[in-house]
Amino acid sequence: MGRDPYRIAVIVGSLRRESINRRLSEALIRLAPPDLALQRVGIGDLPLYNQDDDERQAAPVLRFKGEIEASEGLIFVTPEYNRSIPGVLKNAIDHGSRPYGKSVWGGRPAGVIGATFGMIGTAAAQQHLRNVLACLNVRTMGQPEAFIRITDDFFDPEGNAGPESREFLQKWMKRFAAWVRLHAD
Ligand code: FNR
Repeated sequence: MGRDPYRIAVIVGSLRRESINRRLSEALIRLAPPDLALQRVGIGDLPLYNQDDDERQAAPVLRFKGEIEASEGLIFVTPEYNRSIPGVLKNAIDHGSRPYGKSVWGGRPAGVIGATFGMIGTAAAQQHLRNVLACLNVRTMGQPEAFIRITDDFFDPEGNAGPESREFLQKWMKRFAAWVRLHAD
């Protein structure tokens, strides 16, 4: 008998209404194979992390941690801010890691991807993110790397990536799915 689809939490490191990374996450969600159920997990309502609140975490923090705990894999879709990850994403990761000993991250397989209009395709941000995830014992897929440079015609009117990029993203998703199957059980 087949198992239920793997539940994959998709975390987008941008709160911007017209975020290209959110659009990329939507395109990725449509490319997922049937045994992966991708669901975006919001981070925009999380307060700024304050260690004083560890013993009485706010409702949005408990909601966020619950959604990560219920997941069997993670996809981070991150912009690059000043050659690193946006503060909102680091804030969310920090919330999920605390209180000490109660981190929700450990052991989960993860994929890292990001989009920019710039030339280096979020490579620096992704490298920083990989360091953070290593510290949290997340099993981040090493290859293929995915540094997405957005051009005016990257997305079609339905929000799908154009044919060449779609093929690349499809391959990335296939490898990520294999990574999840290997590590999630
Ligand atoms: C940026 N941007 C940017 N781009 C990049 O490729 N490398 C960088 O270091 C930075 N730094 C940076 C800092 C700050 C504070 C902002 C607001 C922006 C540009 C960034 O890639 C662009 O705004 C994207 O559109 C952000 O992604 P979303 O929000 O569209 O998903």
